[in-house]
Amino acid sequence: MCGIIGIASNKSVTSNIINSLKKLEYRGYDSAGIATIVNGNIDEKKCTGRVDNLEKILFKNPSKGLLGIGHVRWATHGIPSQVNAHPHSSEEVSVVHNGIIENSNELKKKLEQSGYKFKSQTDTEVITFLLTDFLKEFDLVEAINKTLKTLNGSFALGILFKKYDNIVVGARRGSPLAVGYGPQENYLGSDSYALKSMTNKITYLEDGEVCIISNNKVDFYNSKNIKINKKILTLSNDKYTAEKGDYKDFMSKEINEQNITAKNCVKEYVDQLRKDINLYNFPIQPKDIQKIILIGCGTAYHSCITAKYWFEELTNIPIEIDIASEFRYRKIKLSKKNLYIFVSQSGETADTFAALDLCKKNKVKTCSVVNAVESSIARSSDFVLPIHAGPEIGVASTKAFIGQMLVLYILAIKISQIRKEISETEYEKKIIDLKKLPDLIKKTLNYCQNNIPTIAKDFLKAKGSMFLGRGLSFPIALEGALKLKELSYLHAEGYPAGEMKHGPLALIEEGLPVVILAPKDRYFEKTISNMQEVIARGGKVILITNETKKIISENIRFTLEMPESNENLTPFLMTIPLQLLAYHVALLKNCDIDKPRNLAKSVTVE
Ligand code: G6P
Repeated sequence: MCGIIGIASNKSVTSNIINSLKKLEYRGYDSAGIATIVNGNIDEKKCTGRVDNLEKILFKNPSKGLLGIGHVRWATHGIPSQVNAHPHSSEEVSVVHNGIIENSNELKKKLEQSGYKFKSQTDTEVITFLLTDFLKEFDLVEAINKTLKTLNGSFALGILFKKYDNIVVGARRGSPLAVGYGPQENYLGSDSYALKSMTNKITYLEDGEVCIISNNKVDFYNSKNIKINKKILTLSNDKYTAEKGDYKDFMSKEINEQNITAKNCVKEYVDQLRKDINLYNFPIQPKDIQKIILIGCGTAYHSCITAKYWFEELTNIPIEIDIASEFRYRKIKLSKKNLYIFVSQSGETADTFAALDLCKKNKVKTCSVVNAVESSIARSSDFVLPIHAGPEIGVASTKAFIGQMLVLYILAIKISQIRKEISETEYEKKIIDLKKLPDLIKKTLNYCQNNIPTIAKDFLKAKGSMFLGRGLSFPIALEGALKLKELSYLHAEGYPAGEMKHGPLALIEEGLPVVILAPKDRYFEKTISNMQEVIARGGKVILITNETKKIISENIRFTLEMPESNENLTPFLMTIPLQLLAYHVALLKNCDIDKPRNLAKSVTVE
């Protein structure tokens, strides 16, 4: 996945393209590039690494075109290198691309036979040469249309033409693309966030649509080449700024504002006066739901696992969970009696979107739990439950995880109440407890700030580490291990503590850090027994619990005492020390916290 930007203006576009590319770096950051039209010719500049490198090149050698396209890359076809960086240009056209062209090998062969010489290993260069070829015979709209019809796979494109030197063209299939409107200039971007500093007037392209942008107008065409009108949305200003403020990086800001995330989310869904949960126009009769299927990727998938425990406890509805990249290809019987819930921070993850698309094609009930409410997943699902976390910039998801879990927990409580599966007294008690969550998170954040940096040192020299928990703490153990892998590139395994004896116990050796999540719950004694097995084999235990009175082992290296809370709220609190642990280990290793290697925030390719 990659980020793309395009601007048509009446003044030089370079600095705005650079600023927007910096905002898009969360989508990819292994190389960057820009193309503008200068003196009637395509002027292309590319580099490996960050947008900062591109900025330095442009500083030495400015490019003052009035229209341009830019790209940040996350390599799929071909290594990260200057030659594989986008744009990919011929004499006639220049292309930036987000997505994957699945028939690129076969197209490349045909184009080579026609005499086109490929410079890169990318799939994108076929688009450049296809357009160049069709333009010899057809007018602009027809050439674009013929090119798009030839391509299999997914794409969001930004295109410049030597011959049509006052327009930027955008096209989408499968990958997101937004159009923005400014004074004497118009824009194209992978998302509205990239255009935020220039405009809040946005139109989203749908699959198959094409836009032609000049500095004073934007024309849209549908897949049949017919000119269409599209709605312009005015996006609200985010409640939280996407700036770092006094924080060293976005991730520490995002971890530290999780009490606010929880507060805002609770405020949106809980009617404080009536002690009630408001799902507004939730279109599905909970009484009619036969089964709920929760689907997501990465951290979002972990929130689905926690939700399974909550739904199973609070309702009689059978629950299934699935990883989107698996769900989309399984030979599955979809049922109109089921509710399919898609969880995604970005709302653009390709696998999650494809899984949703499969459900839409089968006309089953869909709902999404997203952070980005203008995203493709939000717009395509029957109903949206926003998490209200504000922009999350750090690639490793933190506050969005808290928000996803919270919305799913709130949904479980409400469905349970409607189906009369909990009493009104229990319902009210759960709401009162929900309101305490932001303060509990704050307390946990304050407590952990001092302890975690010392604990983090133990992880530096170790061969790997393990994270163990049972019940609601099991998905949190998975999330703790994932955060550590993502941020510090150290091997970490998350496991249900009860499974240790079936294999992973063999990994325990003298000095291996093992994080044990043992809140005061029905699994407590069992988890503590598993902890003793680890200690007996020389593991260095970091115990995280809110039941310190019952711990009698002297061989625990560190014990973190979490605040007392209702059992169902412990996943929120247990998550915090694990996020901070991953953060501090990465800090000690000098890793790039907000942009871990090989990863991207919005994975819009398969
Ligand atoms: C990427 C990110 C993860 C995220 C996952 C799902 O892999 O690096 O942090 O959990 O995508 O993203 P989504 O936007 O669908 O929640």
